[in-house]
Amino acid sequence: MRVGLLGTGRIGAFHAGTLATTSRVGSLTLWDPRAEVARAVAERVGGRVAESPSALLGDRLDALLICSPSTTHEDILTEAVHRGIPTFCEKPVATTLDATARLLTLVESADVPVTIGFQRRSDPGYQALRQRVVSGALGKLYLARMVSADEAPPPAEYLACSGGLFTDQSVHDFDIVRYITGEEIVSVYATGAALTGAAGFAETADVDTAVTVLTLSGGTIVSLTSSRHSATGYDVTFELAGSGGVATVSSATRQPTVDGVADVLASDGGFLATFAAAYRSEVGRFLDYVEGIGDNPCSVHDAFVAFSVAQAATHSRRNGIPVRLDQYELEGISR
Ligand SMILES: NC(=O)c1ccc[n+]([C@@H]2O[C@H](COP(=O)([O-])OP(=O)(O)OC[C@H]3O[C@@H](n4cnc5c(N)ncnc54)[C@H](O)[C@@H]3O)[C@@H](O)[C@H]2O)c1
Repeated sequence: MRVGLLGTGRIGAFHAGTLATTSRVGSLTLWDPRAEVARAVAERVGGRVAESPSALLGDRLDALLICSPSTTHEDILTEAVHRGIPTFCEKPVATTLDATARLLTLVESADVPVTIGFQRRSDPGYQALRQRVVSGALGKLYLARMVSADEAPPPAEYLACSGGLFTDQSVHDFDIVRYITGEEIVSVYATGAALTGAAGFAETADVDTAVTVLTLSGGTIVSLTSSRHSATGYDVTFELAGSGGVATVSSATRQPTVDGVADVLASDGGFLATFAAAYRSEVGRFLDYVEGIGDNPCSVHDAFVAFSVAQAATHSRRNGIPVRLDQYELEGISR
């Protein structure tokens, strides 16, 4: 396969490494406005650097990975779909719900494979947890207890274009709770505050600490605690309790908690170390999907739903009210 990749920063360099060790990838072409960074990655993975992004897109690609900053995704993905290039796009699809909805319509009418990078869906621990739900081992689901905590707040410049805690961080939690439980989110109530004193939160009216309560279509109740600073290190935990038992996947737990599920994620590192297996697997699954031998691990529709919940959570937090997703009026809230 002829594969192109735009953006060779943190996640792009990681995906380039995965592609370099994938035998069905015959050629890998990269581009990044920081030419020296692109060159260094290309040298490391045995790829070549394109002269420009349009030269890369015009290179008869079988697959494209978009790993550039979030603000660039909408334009690049739109062009890729118009050109008919199967594309893996890091989350988010776009930075507004409007634009995400436009891309959803475009992708669904164009019949071009597009996968969005919600990597937890490809993590072995989360897949094992999902299997416990599907097999009925957990019985009727009662409660999910989720934790998302970064080691340290991101820089103020990152916060300025992150879209806020719910859009940037919790969107992963909103996506994975649908994937694990198979239920839709029907209401969201969020409260939050800026407690860390880190730069950038007050200026953007963002929060660094939050609690979100979700109710799901099957009746399951979810609590999510979110933080931009965890004094004990990166922590992403998902505990699911049902009539048949309790199962946990956690990056913070050093011991398996249920049937070995938890140890899959055990890691002393941040997101790249914790989810290394998931990031590798999602790229392989995308290529399977492009070749017609696998399902789409995460569609633009899935990303649109998670983004909608993130917008509703932001609205809930700002206004101090619960928001029902079925009554959620996109107009006026998201734009
Ligand atoms: N799924 C996940 O868990 C996950 C994790 C990290 C990042 N991401 C997403 O991946 C994207 C990149 O994040 P990152 O942390 O790697 O950022 P980064 O800043 O480390 O890297 C981005 C790279 O893109 C380059 N770039 C800028 N404009 C470009 C353009 N128009 N075309 C091509 N390249 C361009 C930059 O020079 C930089 O090298 C973001 O959208 C982010 O939300 C997702």
